[in-house]
Amino acid sequence: MKTFDPVVVTRLIKEEDLNHHGTLFAGRMASWLVESCFLSASRAVGKPEDVVCVKIHGMKFKRPAHKGEILEISSQVVLTGRSSITVAGQGLLDGDDRPAVTGMATFVSVNAQGKPYPHGIVLSEEYVKRVEELNLKAQELTGRRR
Ligand SMILES: CC(C)(COP(=O)(O)OP(=O)(O)OC[C@H]1O[C@@H](n2cnc3c(N)ncnc32)[C@H](O)[C@@H]1OP(=O)(O)O)[C@@H](O)C(=O)NCCC(=O)NCCS
Repeated sequence: MKTFDPVVVTRLIKEEDLNHHGTLFAGRMASWLVESCFLSASRAVGKPEDVVCVKIHGMKFKRPAHKGEILEISSQVVLTGRSSITVAGQGLLDGDDRPAVTGMATFVSVNAQGKPYPHGIVLSEEYVKRVEELNLKAQELTGRRR
């Protein structure tokens, strides 16, 4: 399925997700966030098998999450290049409107030999306007804007 609709994944934080402080382990959170971003990039390309991650940008853990809390991880495409796609992700705890985690990841469309190929995805002006702030941030993080 080809779509730019945001991907939303909901997780219950369990014992096995915790670190030695008893809060959500950063590695687990990072894995969930990148997975959600991967799903967004894959849906934009339409072929998950052609999508690889080249870079994780500026992941920030802003507040701790605890066992029993529900985390909603959402992601959306915010920038595309010739073969690259940058996706912004965030995690929101139930009942909180400030994200517990934010970050971006850039993916590349590759052929069966692992070589980048043009994905042909062009974001409409209207779409870019809707995600303007994240689009500008992604341009900075990927070095497309100084
Ligand atoms: C991803 C990979 C194919 C890119 O190869 P490469 O030789 O760097 O390719 P290119 O230089 O042609 O760059 C391809 C695109 O990636 C972008 N890119 C490369 N490095 C980047 C970085 N550090 N940050 C953001 N974008 C980057 C380039 O700007 C280019 O984008 P564009 O086509 O939209 O202009 C190669 O690095 C690779 O196979 N990496 C391993 C991927 C992997 O195993 N990931 C983990 C599992 S998913």
